Amino acid sequence: MRISVIGCGYVGLVSGACLAAIGHEVICADNDASKIRKLNAGEIPIYEKHLDAVIREARQARRLSFTSSVPEAVNFADAIFICVGTPPLEDGGADLSAIEAVARTIAAEARTSKLVIEKSTVPVQTGGEVKRALQVYGKNKGVKFTVASNPEFLREGTAVVDFLHPDRIVVGVEDSAAESKLREIYQPILDGKFNCPVHGKSCPPLASSQFIVTTMNSAELIKHASNSFLALKISYANLISDLCEKLGANVEEVTRAIGMDPRIGPQFLRAGIGFGGFCLPKDVQAFIHLADKAGVDFAMLKEAERVNKRRIDAFIDRARRALWIIKDKKIGVLGLAFKANTDDIRFSPAIEVIARLRGEGARISASDPEAIERAKSVFPDVQYSADPYEIARGAEAVLILTEWPEYVALDWQRIHGSMLRPLLLDGRNLLDPAKMESLGFEYYSFGRPDSAPVTAN
Ligand code: UDX
Repeated sequence: MRISVIGCGYVGLVSGACLAAIGHEVICADNDASKIRKLNAGEIPIYEKHLDAVIREARQARRLSFTSSVPEAVNFADAIFICVGTPPLEDGGADLSAIEAVARTIAAEARTSKLVIEKSTVPVQTGGEVKRALQVYGKNKGVKFTVASNPEFLREGTAVVDFLHPDRIVVGVEDSAAESKLREIYQPILDGKFNCPVHGKSCPPLASSQFIVTTMNSAELIKHASNSFLALKISYANLISDLCEKLGANVEEVTRAIGMDPRIGPQFLRAGIGFGGFCLPKDVQAFIHLADKAGVDFAMLKEAERVNKRRIDAFIDRARRALWIIKDKKIGVLGLAFKANTDDIRFSPAIEVIARLRGEGARISASDPEAIERAKSVFPDVQYSADPYEIARGAEAVLILTEWPEYVALDWQRIHGSMLRPLLLDGRNLLDPAKMESLGFEYYSFGRPDSAPVTAN
């Protein structure tokens, strides 16, 4: 099938490349001409595992192309995915101006009938507005527009695998023709009948129950409700972690055991400096905003957001207590990305921590396996090194701010020997407290006995 994807950000690029990988002929459009030039030159603007190989193979097979002309993409196919950004507004709501602009372009340019599929995360009822815009601004008589919602559940770092091997595909449709078209688009994944570029073979089919057909409003709500629940889970684990510190328990022992209950599940119970990134914080905000507007007081979500903001305060406080004076001290930072396996620093807790410490006069030197170039645009005068040993040398504290697995394997004895003061603040509970203490570190993490000022039993 021919498919158009509008927007070449994380979601659009991954979706476009993967749709080509499962056999479709795809064009991806973005009005950022320099981004398109780079993509056409074979450069991938983001670090995402497997994405470069998937794009390379799809281009070689002539199933994937890029254009800076949105009108060209509109008339390339009858199924158009909208994957443009929906950044947060001042009031917490989502900025949907890019969605409207795309809808207007589709309306004005379409010469044949189109199925317009929203993949961007949008507040419930946006599909209805998109439909209205398509009708209001439609220029060509006889062209019919159908709208559908097909939210993405892609985690950065594993987005390609998540797309090709989803745990569910949700389609919110207004009629059975749209459902059939979306089924056809995803058929290779449903049947497991494509040569998986990640595993190099065909993979098991999806159960029919994993293809979920709903109304558009439900599909839009599922996405926000899903991300907000994950945020609730993390904040819950972080509060348990605070309790563990106060009462002398170990958060890892507690979350491991509660996560074994299938009703709770083991994921998203990792305590630390809290959730960041371009999705969870903004989706929680937008969901609160949406609920407020609908007259529903989603207080528990507001609390989850508040708990998350307090994580950074608690971490800075811990640094302050350990270091006493922060001004002019060299502090080494390991990790800039909002989580491991990505170069994305948007709403990264690490960036917030660095900004706060710099505000108190600290001299920061920072490392990250992938995100240094992006961090330079935020803090041009921080000292960066790809070598973690370099940033630790002469430091009075090292902070772990992203859960990169390679940090576990560092030669911590060597780091201990090169620091001015062997103080380690682990914001991600990445290292083993007993091991770090045996190496002679003054080591702090969250909700584990090392960091516990035990006040009661
Ligand atoms: C999220 C959703 O998981 C995904 O389904 C959706 O499509 C997009 O938003 P992503 O933004 O890639 O994905 O990040 P995610 O893996 O959800 O992590 C978000 C943040 O929470 C990160 O900062 C991570 O470090 C933090 N986190 C995650 C925790 O602090 N503890 C946990 O247990 C899990």
